[in-house]
Amino acid sequence: MIEVEKLSKEQAAAELKRIAEEMAKSDIAYYQNDAPYLSDAEYDALKRLNAEIEKRFPELIRDDSPSKRIGAPLQSAFGKVAHRFPMLSLADVFSIEEVEDFIAGVKRFLNTEADIAFMCEPKIDGLSFTARYENGLFVQGATRGDGREGEDITANLKTISQLPQRLENAPEVLEVRGEVYMSKADFFALNAKYESEGKKTFANPRNAAAGSLRQLDPEITRERNLSLFAYTWGEVSERVWQSQEDFFRCLKKWGFPTNPNNRLCQNVAEIEKFFANLMEIRSSLTYDIDGVVYKVNDIALQERLGFLTRTPRWAVAHKFPAEQALTKVSNIRIQVGRTGALTPVADLEPVNVGGVIVSHATLHNEDEIRRKDIRIGDTVVVQRAGDVIPQVVAVLPDKRPANSVPFEFPHFCPECGAHAIREEDEAVRRCTGGLTCPAQAIERLKHFVSRDAFDIEGLGGKIIETFYKEKIIVNPVDIFTLENRNAARGDDLFAQEPGLRLEARDGWGKKSVENLFAAINKRRHISLARFIYALGIRQVGTATSRLIAQNFENWRHFEEEMTAGETEKLMSVDGIGESMAHDIVEFFREEHNISTVHKLLQEVTVEDFAEQISTGSPLSGKTVVFTGTLEHLTRSEAKAKAQAAGAKVAGSVSKNTDFVVLGTAAGSKAKTALELGIRTISEEEFLALING
Ligand code: IVH
Repeated sequence: MIEVEKLSKEQAAAELKRIAEEMAKSDIAYYQNDAPYLSDAEYDALKRLNAEIEKRFPELIRDDSPSKRIGAPLQSAFGKVAHRFPMLSLADVFSIEEVEDFIAGVKRFLNTEADIAFMCEPKIDGLSFTARYENGLFVQGATRGDGREGEDITANLKTISQLPQRLENAPEVLEVRGEVYMSKADFFALNAKYESEGKKTFANPRNAAAGSLRQLDPEITRERNLSLFAYTWGEVSERVWQSQEDFFRCLKKWGFPTNPNNRLCQNVAEIEKFFANLMEIRSSLTYDIDGVVYKVNDIALQERLGFLTRTPRWAVAHKFPAEQALTKVSNIRIQVGRTGALTPVADLEPVNVGGVIVSHATLHNEDEIRRKDIRIGDTVVVQRAGDVIPQVVAVLPDKRPANSVPFEFPHFCPECGAHAIREEDEAVRRCTGGLTCPAQAIERLKHFVSRDAFDIEGLGGKIIETFYKEKIIVNPVDIFTLENRNAARGDDLFAQEPGLRLEARDGWGKKSVENLFAAINKRRHISLARFIYALGIRQVGTATSRLIAQNFENWRHFEEEMTAGETEKLMSVDGIGESMAHDIVEFFREEHNISTVHKLLQEVTVEDFAEQISTGSPLSGKTVVFTGTLEHLTRSEAKAKAQAAGAKVAGSVSKNTDFVVLGTAAGSKAKTALELGIRTISEEEFLALING
């Protein structure tokens, strides 16, 4: 028995190394279906020992520590896999002008006029995957899921013969990412077979690939003949490539299929040519693509550019023009959103638009309907592009029925009957029903539990609607009191059948109820940023919520200033303007909002804002203001760097400012800093602070 308390630092380090190696061997043995290398008990004992040593010597935690690895294989075929490097998505652009804007933005950020080389890759319309290799052996595969956590599809990926199971001369830890797809030929063959068997067919190759990959029985996956292309990486112990081009060379060497059409382009003209050419050969390709991905080739530049919340700044997806089709508008109805906005939606006679059946389209707002004069009964051109909601592009007046009348936009909320009014400078008409409007209440609840807010799994849209209608959950607090109310017998929680418990509902069993409560209880601790976002304050999205959290640090502080109507600090935050500040203060003016928040705070703990990024940095928690022209960095780059080092960036100097970074020709802000006795530093000093 090893006594952790008695280990010297050297001994502990050696022990951690031994454990990591033993457990890695065991994992590999398991995944290869060899005889197990360790028994389950031995495996667990090592894991515990590892955790104990790491607790005592946190500074010794290894990059390849089993505590960081997805430990023992998951039980069910689709266990969850947390992505240690999130699987990001890309921003979409639809025209060459937008591509030019994107490139100009990259250059501005990097403060260069020189051409930047981009790797141009066909955007494969499939399903992204990540494949993890340890010591050259394929150990785990996962889907993208929500980007942070995916499904474990190790067994299924193993059946795809194009995926190498073993790599020569690869980094110790390497995650290769790419796209699994089904060729058009395989898709048609599969559908023909299904049709002859009277089975439901797949709408397009993408759906067929997804349905085939996410099979509990990997043998079915094998039969489906899936293919793949590799194009990026996740975690890697040692990055031995310097550019995307270089990475493709490595991938080929290791035996991964890479797309033969990938090309390095040196300037916009070449990019344009690449795009046009790809559009032309698109239909002759054996697989579906839906656009082109452009990536800054040089990884050093990629690193300088960094990331926005969910997408990299160094890449973009240029989507092919939307696909269109003709159909008839069977009805126009009005949806009421979380903030009361009335959105018109066209119900359409179902039509196949580029492989997807479309039966609704958004009509945006009343001006849009009037401008296009869209009427019930009209024949219209609909288009869809990627994941966006289908739109009505135009009406065919020749096909309009003789008795047709223009659509009249309602001035009352169709859900609650309250007046719907339109402010002078607004495009949308809003229901004034506020809290009494059920549609708004339901949408607010959906927002409250959504992914970037409380992220409560198991409370999907349908359930929220049902629970709201039956008065089981009418406001956010009810979510957290549900378990106790459900447990209290005789409670007339359920209006229709007093005394009925969730367990007894149709489609609910003991297990699913337990799961729901577990999912709710898991979220009784929440970060300040998520909490603020969950409140659904108008204009306050994830990025603003984070800014507020970073600047106010705890809920009490934020609430105090807002209820006092003090917006000075709020508005000094770079990124929060007057109109947003107005909406935030308005939220706090509503008695009801405050009382809901207070009741909520009895149920959940809102964590103070913690610097997740580089707490050790001298800028962490400090408020920085930039002024004048910087020489080495662009403004955005400087701002991003400061934020990455845990600093808050303000737009104006106040007594709360810690540093003012002076560029050349700094003006009044420098003067204010001097008057207030705030420390000023040069750009060089700022860089030195950032780089430690
Ligand atoms: S790179 C951070 N390259 O498109 C970079 N993605 O809209 C992440 N996709 O989730 C992705 N072909 O599923 C990349 N050559 C390619 C791609 C590609 C298809 C998909 C992928 C991604 C989505 C983003």
